[in-house]
Amino acid sequence: MGFNLLKGKRGIIFGALDENSIAWKTALKVRDEGGIFTLSNAPIALRLGKINELASQCKAEVIPADATSEADLATLFTKSIETLGGKIDFVLHSIGQSPNIRKGRSYGDMNYEWYLKTIDISALSFHKVMQTAEKLDAMNEWGSIVALSYIAAQRNYPDYTDMAQAKAMLESIARSYGARFAKLKKVRVNTISQSPTRTTAGAGIAGFDVFFDFAQMMSPLGNASSEACANYIVVMFSDFTRMVTMQNLMHDGGFSSSGITQELIDRLTNR
Ligand SMILES: NC(=O)c1ccc[n+]([C@@H]2O[C@H](COP(=O)([O-])OP(=O)(O)OC[C@H]3O[C@@H](n4cnc5c(N)ncnc54)[C@H](O)[C@@H]3O)[C@@H](O)[C@H]2O)c1
Repeated sequence: MGFNLLKGKRGIIFGALDENSIAWKTALKVRDEGGIFTLSNAPIALRLGKINELASQCKAEVIPADATSEADLATLFTKSIETLGGKIDFVLHSIGQSPNIRKGRSYGDMNYEWYLKTIDISALSFHKVMQTAEKLDAMNEWGSIVALSYIAAQRNYPDYTDMAQAKAMLESIARSYGARFAKLKKVRVNTISQSPTRTTAGAGIAGFDVFFDFAQMMSPLGNASSEACANYIVVMFSDFTRMVTMQNLMHDGGFSSSGITQELIDRLTNR
């Protein structure tokens, strides 16, 4: 049972692969709040994942798009406007991938072709999504665009390798495009920096369980779940956050403001 926070709003949700995906949980919450949307993912993910299950639960159309392809993105926006019956009010960019991480390369042994792919898929695609939307005049006034980030944009996490640079760039793009879209159409652009979350992308990072547990101990509220993240995204799509833009919003149970916690002190001193 929702509150109709998104009644009458139309959107595009990128990145639902399976039921653990943050985008999957978000799609269900957006549906519950009365929003309508199309679902998109890379063609290969449509074959491997379960997006059609989600599509039938949400009565949403699936439109394939490789988020690095301007042509695919133009088709996606055009078809979404047709299918949904009007311009777009919200976009979720929930996309990340690093071939270097997937293939276990250390930071001193990067394959640079893959490095560029990481940047293209995980950061530049966010610019491409917004530039496509601008060129097609696809957004409604007071629309909201959100991408998902991670605190490795600001701090070092050894196994996050080239994704750290991708996230730093993603957050920078949100500031630059946020300024531009505000003037053009009063559209706001933000990133949400989410706690470690057990998903296909999350669990692909070496040592994930260790930093999940560490973040849990270092966050006074504990790690934020993917459901909680979906709720926050709904709020960011709603009319209650119209003046929030160009921000990197920490959604991490207090992790980013903690120096050390009593829980960690107790653990380290075996009390
Ligand atoms: N899981 C975590 O711990 C965590 C923490 C902070 C931020 N994030 C971010 O959240 C976002 C969503 O990840 P998730 O954790 O839900 O994992 P996920 O693996 O479920 O989602 C990642 C999605 O990116 C899609 N994708 C990859 N390449 C693509 C391309 N070329 N075009 C279009 N889509 C493509 C995948 O198909 C997949 O659906 C990512 O940006 C991730 O970096 C995740």
